[in-house]
Amino acid sequence: MFNIAVFCSGNGTNLQALIEAEKKKKLCAHIALVVSDNDEAYALNRAAKAGIKYLVIKRGSFSSRSEFEKEIIRQLKKENIKLIVLAGFMRMLGTELLSVYKNKVINIHPALLPSFKGAHGIKDAFEYGVKVTGVTVHFVDIEMDHGPIIMQEAVALRANDSQGSLEARIHAVEHALYYKAVSSIARGKVKIKGRKVVIAND
Ligand code: GRF
Repeated sequence: MFNIAVFCSGNGTNLQALIEAEKKKKLCAHIALVVSDNDEAYALNRAAKAGIKYLVIKRGSFSSRSEFEKEIIRQLKKENIKLIVLAGFMRMLGTELLSVYKNKVINIHPALLPSFKGAHGIKDAFEYGVKVTGVTVHFVDIEMDHGPIIMQEAVALRANDSQGSLEARIHAVEHALYYKAVSSIARGKVKIKGRKVVIAND
């Protein structure tokens, strides 16, 4: 079984979409663990409801980022985790974790990278006045929102869009896209060549 851990800090709608995909046998992976750095994350309720093991590991409980990440690694090893799926995890990962899980951490970002990096991708694109934005799934490296791009999908702005209506469409695209990236990786279809990611045909 291809075990994955989903890391969340907040609402967890992407986690929910991954849970549903696993139920429908579309994920080709098993969500063995949910990790949060925030004990108030609603994502934890979603994990509990789905019967998924979850852990809260707070950065503040450790003297350094390295110690914090060592504890995460220890927990991931226990569950034989093959891929870390960041889904609204609001913390940068460091070399400790990224060297052990090299090319085994992915993230979803609510804009077309490399545009609108950071925590407010939807708001920033909306306020900039773009006509097209979208969703990016990418491998995680040491730089924020920077690693090789696995999948992207565009979302066009509509004349009457508010930030809220745009956000709703972006989230819907995220929920339809992320499980496909996980499934392709779990089935061994994804190869990284420098900055380029090649996905073999199904
Ligand atoms: C998503 O928009 C994702 O792209 C970004 O954080 C948000 C998480 O939302 N990285 P949710 O917690 O999955 O609802």
